[in-house]
Amino acid sequence: MKRRDFVVSTALTAIGATLINPLGALADAEVTHLESNDLSLSALKDDFALHFMALGDWGRNGEYDQLEVARQMGQWATEHPNNFVISCGDNFYPSGVVSENDPLWHYSFESIYTAHSLQCDWYPVLGNHDYHTDVDAQVRYSKISRRWDMPARYYSKEISLNKDKDTEIKGPGKSKTKDKVLFVMIDTDPFLHEAKAEYVQTQLKWLNETLEKASADVKWKIVVGHHPFYTVGPRINNYDTLMMRKALPKIFEDHKVDVYLSGHEHSLQHLKPEGFTHQFISGAGSELTRVTEGIPYSRFQASEHGFMYFSIDSNRLNVKAVSYTGKVLYETELKKS
Ligand SMILES: [Fe+2]
Repeated sequence: MKRRDFVVSTALTAIGATLINPLGALADAEVTHLESNDLSLSALKDDFALHFMALGDWGRNGEYDQLEVARQMGQWATEHPNNFVISCGDNFYPSGVVSENDPLWHYSFESIYTAHSLQCDWYPVLGNHDYHTDVDAQVRYSKISRRWDMPARYYSKEISLNKDKDTEIKGPGKSKTKDKVLFVMIDTDPFLHEAKAEYVQTQLKWLNETLEKASADVKWKIVVGHHPFYTVGPRINNYDTLMMRKALPKIFEDHKVDVYLSGHEHSLQHLKPEGFTHQFISGAGSELTRVTEGIPYSRFQASEHGFMYFSIDSNRLNVKAVSYTGKVLYETELKKS
């Protein structure tokens, strides 16, 4: 039997089974079989070198539409190229995890983001809720998990934009680029607590040095932390936002940080306050909070469940805000020569 005939035959069987076992037939009918020529070619058409998804504020045992967002992420990463996932913090509600063996690893992470396409590296930062219990358990879990990769409370990575890096193909006119993206993952909750001033000063020194010493091949600098320094959500002028605004923008300006990516606000936002740095908020992994329209520094805001998808090469950085239904709510592209 040809595969397409098999699909038709399966569908007819399912319709027949409806008369006998309605629930069983429904389960069968949801199985989709695709011929190879039915598959989207969008992944092949994308000529960016590096792709990642960004998701924040998610761990709620699948509730508050966490599961629906997770399913769409799996679908999206099946149909589009994707190298890794960045988690923007508040990884586990309501109070982080108590250890690397906490059942929440199963109920809020492993059994939620199950798609094969999501079995890639996850680079997390910590949020305020993660700080309620054993925050270092999220670092230690990296030793257990194949995909959870958090070497420390704050850390950095330089990632190559060489498209041929896996194949090592090099021929006339096909010189490999040395260009890279620098990711600096920071730990923002301590910035809100005076008692942690020494830890914050040490981290700020490290942040300055990491940005300063970035290799000459770094084309894009992206900093990721949980708390935004601007927002058009409920925390538009609250203590958290104002504290971050005191601490971060000058460093970002001095080192020409292209993007600051955060969560904390339960929405999707693109903000461009005065200065060099674009700010993106991707905190719509489960519960939602409201956004305000018409704020001058906001280019986009949506109180919708979803995630962000970044595509980068040496001269372009494309960002899409994707809803849990797979709809692209917003798209923007930063360019440099
Ligand atoms: Fe938060």
